[in-house]
Amino acid sequence: MDLRPIPEKLQRLADAFDRFAPRYDRWFGRILDRAWEATAAALPVEPGARVLDLCTGTGGLLDRFAARGADVVGVDVSEGMLAKAAEKLRARGIDPERRLIRANVAEVNFPPETFDFVTLSLGLHEMPTAVRREALSRMARLTRRYLLLFDYYLPASLPGRVLQALLAPWEWFETPSFLRHYLWADLPRELKELGLEVVEVRRVRGLFPGQGAIWIAEKRKAAEPHPT
Ligand SMILES: C[S@@+](CC[C@H](N)C(=O)[O-])C[C@H]1O[C@@H](n2cnc3c(N)ncnc32)[C@H](O)[C@@H]1O
Repeated sequence: MDLRPIPEKLQRLADAFDRFAPRYDRWFGRILDRAWEATAAALPVEPGARVLDLCTGTGGLLDRFAARGADVVGVDVSEGMLAKAAEKLRARGIDPERRLIRANVAEVNFPPETFDFVTLSLGLHEMPTAVRREALSRMARLTRRYLLLFDYYLPASLPGRVLQALLAPWEWFETPSFLRHYLWADLPRELKELGLEVVEVRRVRGLFPGQGAIWIAEKRKAAEPHPT
């Protein structure tokens, strides 16, 4: 994979996640365990299936696919988060070498349709619009069967607004109103434009004070030429 230099703003995000990595699973594990389980269960991943998980973080979702015997690859910009993901793979007897790649997901590069499933959990809300578009378009190219996106947004209620104010210094966090609109209105349209059809949307409960959902999109096959 082409590992270009990480842009400065993204490097700041990576540094923040590097610092946060040792605490990520402890702080969010209880909430996210259920969400990762529901997310992994939403896809028909069989042993040997090739799965690419972008923004893999500490590998909570990646590990669920590895547990099902999938051939997994995870990509993230934070070395600290990837180190935690490596621990999970090693605990399953899987060598993380070449399975965990440090890169910007907007530059992820494999031959088309290398993977049966391409997933991205809790990363869209951290991406500027241009990065999100590029990441989605690469995901669409890399999947052979399904693409899965799981994300959440903060509600417009008081707890949501307080949390948003606390997150404001993390300038890459999208505003709740933008993200809600993006996920429910723009995302299905963008996926369609990329040749994918949203076949299922599942709400994920228990993300207080966030509201989350899983979008599953299937790759449309080019129409077979009609015999003449
Ligand atoms: C909130 S964590 C989610 C991690 C994991 N997917 C999960 O479900 O817990 C977001 C992750 O996305 C990564 N990330 C955000 N933007 C990225 C980008 N442009 N390229 C690569 N990784 C990115 C961060 O480093 C972080 O590990």
